[in-house]
Parts: sequence; structure tokens; C-alpha cells
Amino acid sequence: MNVTKALVTGANTGIGKEIALSFASKGIKVFIASRSYDRTLPVIQAIEKLYGAHKCEWLSLDLGSIKSIDRCVDSFFEQNVSLDYLVNNAGFAGSRGSTKEGFELAFGVNYFGHYVLTRRLECALIRSKNARVVNVSSKVHSIVKKLDFASLRKPTKSLSGINEYAVSKLANILFTSELHRRYASLGISSFAVHPGLVDTEIWRTLPFFLRPILKLKGMLTPEEGAKNVLQCAFVDASTHSGKYFSKCTPSPPSTLATDQELAIKLWEQSESWMNNYSK
Ligand SMILES: NC(=O)c1ccc[n+]([C@@H]2O[C@H](COP(=O)([O-])OP(=O)(O)OC[C@H]3O[C@@H](n4cnc5c(N)ncnc54)[C@H](OP(=O)(O)O)[C@@H]3O)[C@@H](O)[C@H]2O)c1
Repeated sequence: MNVTKALVTGANTGIGKEIALSFASKGIKVFIASRSYDRTLPVIQAIEKLYGAHKCEWLSLDLGSIKSIDRCVDSFFEQNVSLDYLVNNAGFAGSRGSTKEGFELAFGVNYFGHYVLTRRLECALIRSKNARVVNVSSKVHSIVKKLDFASLRKPTKSLSGINEYAVSKLANILFTSELHRRYASLGISSFAVHPGLVDTEIWRTLPFFLRPILKLKGMLTPEEGAKNVLQCAFVDASTHSGKYFSKCTPSPPSTLATDQELAIKLWEQSESWMNNYSK
């Protein structure tokens, strides 16, 4: 029997955890790709208790390391040939540094790691014949006015890391539109989504005195954030693939995020970086 399968990154907590639970509730087998088995175990146990054994599998994944991404993909391919849903959800804001391969930390994890993961999984997605890739972006992408390619290969420059986070989320949207342009005819639909302002661990790096202000702005629960993301996974792909969603509706992203030349340049540069780390 051909079981419908979903792979969700960073599903040990926050929005990703709720996405995994929701896929499982629909009878979809979920692969949770995350950094720690111990931190993921409670989610696996919750899914198995609610929906039965073998409904969930763990894959080790650190998006800041190409080797780890390759191992994750190899483990997936050991038992599976097709993938129906890929939710590129994992992400962080506010930490500084660079990835193992020398990419700015937020860009490397939130965008480039997901670019490599998606490309490495593309034959499984094509085999599904009706696959969906959902890239979790953010409204904050709109603060970026220019994409400086040189800075993407250097450690985080800003003190807060917020500018770099915004760049990574802009890259998620550019990736989505280019993925649509190149792969829609092969049966892969793609979506970018802002989940809303959601009360999760992502805010742990925020100074403690700012947290009550955020709460006053009215934060969504992780379940509500997951609902916004999943809405894209089930929307009519023929009219909505390639689009950016906010508040559950297709919305115009920033002008820079709709720059097709920039999307092509980012894709080609990412492909060339990726090929430098080919298996
Ligand atoms: N919360 C919001 O208000 C908000 C708003 C806009 C967009 N978003 C986006 O929503 C997505 C989910 O965030 P969240 O709010 O649910 O945050 P969260 O609760 O902090 O969850 C983030 C997940 O990403 C994982 N992650 C971080 N770095 C990773 C790496 N190098 N490799 C693999 N996994 C990694 C984390 O794993 P560990 O547990 O191992 O750290 C965790 O599972 C992110 O892409 C975020 O940018 C959130």
C-alpha cells in the first residue's frame, strides 16, 4: 500500500510539533527531522499514543551541516522512495555565528540547509507526482532592502542577528517562487508562509523585558501557527503554487521578494555552493 508521507524539520517543539501532530491526525506518516532524539521522543510518543505505532519516525538533522543533511536524506531513502509533503519549518532568530561550511548562521540554517535538503529529496518529491513543499518564512523579510551576497559567506554581522534572520526569511520566499517556476511541471508545488506571531521557544533569545510587550501584541498559540502553515499544504495548488501566504491568504510579499532575477541568481548561486559539497 502506498502510504502518504510528510517530512517536517524542527518538529520537536513549537509550530513544527503541531504540524507533525496534525499530519498524523490525517493518517499521514510523519518523519520528524530534528537535532535531538531525546527532545523529539515526547512528540513521537504522543503521535504513537494517539494514532498508533509506526506513524512517526525520527531522522537526525542539523541544518547547519551538509554532512548531516546528506545522512538524513540517506536514512530517508533507505526505506522510502517517495515523499508527498516537505515542510521546511526549522529555524531560529537571534543567534550569531556561521555554519560548518562557513555560511552566515541564520542564512545557512533557515535557508541554505533547507535548499540542500529539498534538492537532495527532489527525486522522492517528483515520484509522489503531487508533492508540496512548504517553506516557513516570516513577515520580517520585508525589512530587507538589498541582498548582499558577500555577507552570506561571513559570520553574522549585526548584534541582534535580526537583519540576518530577515535575509534568511526573504531567501525562503525567493526559493519558493523559483522552485515553483522550475518544478511545478514535474508535480512539485511550493508555498511560502508567515505563520503569524506565535508564542514559541523562538523568542528565547529576546531580552526578558521585551517578552511581555510581544505578548501584549497578541500572540497565536503554536496550534494556531501550525494551522496557518498547514493551510498551504492543502490549498488548491493549481492556482496558488509559488505564492506567499500570510493570515491564511495569498498576500503580496515585499518588492524584493518578487524580484525574479534575484530569485534566479540566488537559486544558481545556491546550486553552485551545494555542488561544492556534493557527496
Ligand atoms: N514563532 C513566531 O512568532 C514565528 C514568526 C514568524 C516565523 N516563524 C518561523 O516558524 C518556524 C518555526 O519556529 P517556532 O516559532 O516554532 O520556533 P521554535 O519553537 O524555536 O522551533 C524551532 C525549531 O527549529 C529547530 N532548529 C533550529 N536550528 C536548527 C538546526 N540547525 N537544525 C535543525 N533544526 C533546527 C529547533 O530545534 P532545537 O529544539 O534543537 O533548537 C526547533 O525544533 C521558524 O522557521 C521560524 O522562523 C516563527
